[in-house]
Amino acid sequence: MTVDKTSAIRALKEEILRLKAEKNAVILAHYYTRGEIQEVADHIGDSLALARIAAGLKEPVIVMCGVHFMGETAKILCPDKTVLIPDEKAGCSLADSCPAPEFEKFVKAHPDYQVISYVNTSAAVKALTDVVVTSSNARKVVDSFPEDAKLIFGPDRNLGAYINSVTGRDMLLWDGACHVHEQFSVEKLVELKKARPQARVLAHPECKRALILLADVVGSTAALLDYAVNNEATEFIVATESGILHEMQRKCPEKTFIPLPPEDSTCGCNDCSFMKLNTLEKLRDCLRDGYPEISVDPDIARLARRPIDRMLSIQ
Ligand code: 13P
Ligand code: SF4
Repeated sequence: MTVDKTSAIRALKEEILRLKAEKNAVILAHYYTRGEIQEVADHIGDSLALARIAAGLKEPVIVMCGVHFMGETAKILCPDKTVLIPDEKAGCSLADSCPAPEFEKFVKAHPDYQVISYVNTSAAVKALTDVVVTSSNARKVVDSFPEDAKLIFGPDRNLGAYINSVTGRDMLLWDGACHVHEQFSVEKLVELKKARPQARVLAHPECKRALILLADVVGSTAALLDYAVNNEATEFIVATESGILHEMQRKCPEKTFIPLPPEDSTCGCNDCSFMKLNTLEKLRDCLRDGYPEISVDPDIARLARRPIDRMLSIQ
């Protein structure tokens, strides 16, 4: 990086910290955001940690550096706070794969089923849900239902199939997926494993089943980070969005992390274009202008809060 670029980044970070103090704001960032965003955040974490942190904050302004559903979850949990997001176009292909009107028809067609929704959904889908899960707690939440309970799981078919496989359930799955995690190449993973037999494979449960079967550990971003920190191996192949490598490398500077490439790419990495919409410039602007702000229809928010609270109450 050139000296000019480094000093521009430093100046932007200083401006963000000054504005943050002036507005009494807290910056939350997901592990998939750019490294420089994670560096300026007060808290970084996976979806579950960010929801828990948001729920416990006393400051009046939250800036969610992540994607829209994360901002919505924070707003639902903290209706009296201002929740800002650096770029309102930061959506999620998985959440988009489950439009609320269609999900409602699916739910109504199965009246004797209870509904479990992944946190990667719109507030309107959460409002149709009995309990929300994240990849951190999906197994625990599913286990909390009686064995014979009839369950719908949406929207991620890969996470749902993985949870079915580890719990022995037969949940009815919505046919949605994340465009980033579906793209990881099983073929390239096999080649990498051959070239580096000592490397451990870390996979997010949004990946396809064939890839999950080759992984040493399957878990949320926080669980994969934890494994990398605590495992004695020194090389890891990472099958999740490449932003997580920033925190892995920061916590384990002596270890090697290899991002698993997608099937069709020349870049050798796998980025969530939505997460990468968060930039330092946009973070500065949204703190300065108080915009874009997340809003959730109060009736939807009331209905969506119940399944989120139910999730948060399951330790
Ligand atoms: P985590 O809950 O593991 O942070 O995952 C969020 C996500 O969007 C995965 O693609
Ligand atoms: Fe959504 Fe996939 Fe991006 Fe996660 S990585 S925010 S599931 S599009």
